[in-house]
Order: sequence, then C-alpha cells, then structure tokens
Amino acid sequence: MLSYLRIITLLIIVPTVMSCQSPSEELPSSAIESKIDSLIRLMTIEEKVNMIHASSAFTGGGVERLGIPELITSDGPHGVRHEHGRDWAKDENVYDSSTYLPTGTALAATWNTELGYKFGTVLGSEANFRGKDIILGPGFNIIRSPLNGRNFEYLTEDPYLNSRLVVGYIKGVQEHDVAACAKHYIANTYEYEREYVDVKMDERTMREIYLPAYISAVQEGEVLAVMAAYNKFNGTYCAHSKYLLDDILKGELGFEGLVMSDWNAVKGTEAAYVGMDLEMGTDLAIGTEDYGKFHMGDTVVGLVEEGKLDESILDDKVRRILRVMFQINKFGDRKKGQYNTPEHQRTAREIANESITLLKNQDVLPLKKELNKLAVIGGNATWKHAGAGGSSQVKAYYEITPLEGIENTLAESTEIVFSPGYGIGKNGQATDEMIAEAVANVSSADAAIYIGGWVRGYTDEWDDNVFDAENVDKPDMFLPFGQDKLINAILKANPNTIIVIMGGGPTDMRAWESNAKGIVQAWYPGMEGGNAIAAVLFGDVNPSGKLPMTFPAKLEDSPAHSISSYPNENLLIDHKEGIFVGYRHFDTREIEPMFPFGHGLSYTSFEYSDLAISRNEGQVTVSLQVSNTGSVQGGEVVQLYVKDMESSLERPEQELKEFSKLFIEPGASVMVEFKLDSSAFKYFKEGEGWILEPGDFEIRVGSSSRDIRLKEILTL
Ligand code: BGC
Repeated sequence: MLSYLRIITLLIIVPTVMSCQSPSEELPSSAIESKIDSLIRLMTIEEKVNMIHASSAFTGGGVERLGIPELITSDGPHGVRHEHGRDWAKDENVYDSSTYLPTGTALAATWNTELGYKFGTVLGSEANFRGKDIILGPGFNIIRSPLNGRNFEYLTEDPYLNSRLVVGYIKGVQEHDVAACAKHYIANTYEYEREYVDVKMDERTMREIYLPAYISAVQEGEVLAVMAAYNKFNGTYCAHSKYLLDDILKGELGFEGLVMSDWNAVKGTEAAYVGMDLEMGTDLAIGTEDYGKFHMGDTVVGLVEEGKLDESILDDKVRRILRVMFQINKFGDRKKGQYNTPEHQRTAREIANESITLLKNQDVLPLKKELNKLAVIGGNATWKHAGAGGSSQVKAYYEITPLEGIENTLAESTEIVFSPGYGIGKNGQATDEMIAEAVANVSSADAAIYIGGWVRGYTDEWDDNVFDAENVDKPDMFLPFGQDKLINAILKANPNTIIVIMGGGPTDMRAWESNAKGIVQAWYPGMEGGNAIAAVLFGDVNPSGKLPMTFPAKLEDSPAHSISSYPNENLLIDHKEGIFVGYRHFDTREIEPMFPFGHGLSYTSFEYSDLAISRNEGQVTVSLQVSNTGSVQGGEVVQLYVKDMESSLERPEQELKEFSKLFIEPGASVMVEFKLDSSAFKYFKEGEGWILEPGDFEIRVGSSSRDIRLKEILTL
C-alpha cells in the first residue's frame, strides 16, 4: 500500500518535462537553464549517470520518470545512415533509404559556402524526419596524409577553407532542430590503429592548423555537439583530455554544448573527471546490453556516492545534455523534417555539379554529343559507392552511376559500348582479356571515356571496406586493380580518351598523366553523381570545382611522408612537419605537385585586373575585377593568399586567407571585395600567443595557389 501511494505522489508532483513544456524556441536561455536546474534537482545519482553513457548502440540514456527521453544519434556526414536496432544489427523492415549527398571532399571542392549550408539543411531535415536528435557530422579532420582512409569524409588540408565550410553546414543542420556534431576533435588523421596512436604536436601547429575550424564551428556555427577523437594527443586520449576538453574547448572557446566520445574512445573512468559528457559505443557492453558496465556507468555512481567524484562535475555533464535537448526543441514544438524530396535531390545534384574538378584539358573537353559510337570503360562507370566506407554508409534512395548519367545525357542514336576493363573486389584485376576488350572498344569509337579510380568497399559490409573507408588507410597512392596498365593501353589506342577518377583524394598519376589530354577528378559525387559527371563531360555544366587539397606527384613528396611520420612501431605520430601541412609544405619547400591546391579548370577563361588595397581602422580591403573572357558562363573561385615577406619565425610561403566563388556571364565583369582583419597577418608563437609582426606582406590573388594573377605589397 505504501509503495502504491508513493507512486501516486510521484506522478502528481514530479513536473515532467513533456507535460509542462512550451516551445523552447521562445524560451530565453536563462529560462532553459532554470528548467534544467529544477530537473537536475529531482534526479538521483543513478539517473544522472544513466544520462552520461549510451543506452543502446546509438542512443544516450534518458530518465523516464521525469519525462526525459533517450538522446537519439545517427551517422553521418553525408546522409542519414540506415537504421540500427538497439544493437548494431541492421533494421531491415524500415524505410531508411535516404538522400545520399556528395561526400566531404566533394563538398569542399565546390569552395561554395552556400552549398555547405544547403548540404546541412538536407541532412538536418532528413535527420529530423527520421527522429534523430544529433547527426554525427560534419567530419572535418585536416587532410594531412593522402593515405588516410577517411579523407573522403573530411574536407581539406587548409584551416581557413575548413572553417568557412563547416559554419554553413552546422547552421543548415541545426535550423532543423537537430544538433550537428563536429568530429573528430582533434587531429585524428589516420585510421591505422586509430584507437591507440599518440599524436605528438606542438601548440603552434594545433592553433594554426588543427583548431581554427573548431573555433568557427563553436563560435560562429554554434555547434551543439562535439565528438572527441579516438587518438591520444600528446600522451592523453582526446576523450580523457582536460587540456582539450575543459581548457580549450569549454574554457577558451566557450563551448556550451555536449562532448560525446567516438564509439569506444573512452578507455577508463578518468574521462568522467574531465569534460567528456557522454560515453558512446564502448565495447564493454557488447553482447550483454548492460550499459552500466561502461566506464562512465555504475562505477561513476559509486565514485560520486563515496565523494571521490564531485557531483557538480556529473551535474555539468547532465546539464549540457539537457541543454542540447532543449535547444533542438525536443520537449517543445519541434520542426518537421522532410525526406527524399526532389529539392533534396536537386541540392545533391547542385553540389555534385560544382564539385567536379577539371584537372587537365588539352582541347578535348567538353565532348560533342553528336556521336555515333561512344566507348565507356572502367569499373566505376557502373559501381555504386553509397553503401560502403564505414560509419558514413548511406542506404541511398537511388544512386545514378556514371554510365547511367551518360545514357541519360546522350540521344538514343549514339551507340554506347561499355567494358569494365578491370574487376572490383579482393582479387579484382585488369586481366589481359579485359584490357584487350577495352582497347578494341576505344579504338572503334568516336569518343572514349574512362571512369575508374577508387572504391569505398566491395560490398556494403563493414569487413569489405577498402581504400576510402573507415578503419583502414590506403596502402599507397597507386590506383588499385591494375588500372595504370589499363589506362595506358586505352590511351595508346585512343589518345583522346577522357580519364575520370573517382575517389576521396589524390592518386599517383605518374604512370599515365603525360599521355592523357583530359583528366577529371569526380570525387564521390553522391546520388546524382552520374548525371553531374555526364553534364560536365558533355558541356551542359561548366566545371567549377577546385582542389581542396594538394595532389602530390608521389606520396613521398607529401609532408607527413617526406619525414616518415606515419605511426611508428610505438604508435607515435610525430607531427614533425609542424604547420607545414599541404600546400604550406609544397610551396615553402618548392616541391612541384601533380596538381596544386586550389587548382581546377573551366570551359571559359577569367581575367583578373584592377587590384586595389586600402587600410581603414585595422581592416584591410582588397578589391579587384574578374571578367569572363570566354564564350560560356562559368564559375570561378577567386583565392586570396597572404605571404609574410619577412618574419622572425618561419612562416609558410603563403596562406589562404579569403576566397569567393563567382558565376559570371560571358563578356561580363564583377568586382570582388575582401575584408581582412589583423588575424589574416598573424602567426602563433608558443608562450606569447598570436603575433602581428609589422612589415611587408604580399597580397596575392589568383585562380589557384600556383596561378597567382595579381599581387601587391602591403606594409603593416
Ligand atoms: C566513427 C564515428 C562514427 C561512430 C558511430 C566511429 O567508428 O569514428 O565517426 O560517428 O563510429 O558510428
């Protein structure tokens, strides 16, 4: 009888969140904080601890008694992942095939911040529709090595481009009452032994290269969640790091949202003492579904009860999780998302169109549509990529392959002959017979297109992830499946064959680059990728993609590999190259890349003129005119680099400080204006902070990092 009475009392007096919540959109943050205070006051230690670790494969625990539901997360960066049951099993009986957007490096190749925002809105809307609270993206680890298996998910080697793209993405997601999750904090730049490697890095490198995009994500994007990386950073796991989580992220940057771990990144109870708020994916519960076994589970209850862990630390974690729930209106009138709409597909197409990067064109592109016979060669012409690659798998609503895109573009009167040329799979190869068939086809055709490159997996099963995939790095930069031999054979038979490479990053092209007249980098261009590739090849879309990372001629030229800083036998990744990542290394050390950072050709030509620089109250204004001097409309990315002419600390040859993507009609001109504040000229010195050293700076404006069209000295 007594317990019956107690239940009744609880039901009457406990103000559950669900029952009394008005839309929190209208609530000032002080009102949210006081609601959180009252909830925390009502919670037992067990209930609090239940909220700071997972309650299933992808949820954080709730408190049913108080009407606090579980927090529902989902991968990933370029589409809402398929449903998992409460364990890892795929839930087969649900409608979970979603919009598959181009992957990170493709988005970055657009150099279009508005598209970053549009990308985010598609993801946010679809995640909301699927009932998700947090989408586990954007992923924006700096691209340091061409071998990192996850480069395709990330964006760029440059901290400024990184910063600009993440802000729109985050805002786009969060507009739909879904939290974005900035990952992986920080410097998780290899997949090899990613859970155990120790990244050694000096403070300058962290602040100039690896931290800027987090600052923008937090302070401009107002990101609600951050995922701590697997790796150690200067000896301490990122997920356990007081320095990274408390001092930098929550302290200096003022981050007020929640920090979650990567899956199985918390390795001990130490994490509970620092700014790790939500432990996810720890292996300890596998097979038992007993999430109390997590490092931040039952043990933490004991520690708080024994006074060994201050309850205020626990309260702060709970507060941050609840804050995110309030911010996404989980308790109020949440916006309604949409799923697989034509508009979402149009966005996927628009991003793909602008991402495709024309690397080389010796008067062979665009192709004429009036063809009697077209030969299409290469495994990627018919391969679908969405379902593989690890946590970024997307069960695509549809995925147009390049061959389908070409078929959609050409009239039926054109005969299209396709031969794969090589097989994709564990033992996939370009056999002599396959090469002979491809050679015969290109020899007898009016035009020939090769669509090859990399894959993210042989099937959509985790075990078959390869090359551009989670948990593995590429063995080298050479095309797999014997493609070099095949490409050379078809180029010999038909020197005008267009070479299209799909993949997340650079390829060693030395075996055939000088024989090819037309080379296109098509990335992983999403569900509309095939249509976009065809549109670029046949001139319906004028290419405007630019490389967001340097394409080295060979692996050894790239900074991490030139100093052998791949994880050594002690799993130490010593960032000996410091700030000289990407073009900062190639330009300063005068190494000729295969294709430089920021490179990408167009079917029209642009002229740069009238550079003018002025200073006003600590701000520098740079203006110039860009004219389309060709005969078709085109998109150009105007890039502004700053070179410090003399510095007491070694600085890179040049650094990207601004850019703008413009679409200009033939014969038309536009004025571009950039505003630079003092941060564009500073460097970081350990012990002293950001320093502006007076002197001469060269302002360089151009079409790529190695195609500077205008420059002028500015004295500060
Ligand atoms: C990945 C994360 C991902 C998580 C959940 C981890 O293996 O590193 O990026 O969000 O799994 O799938």
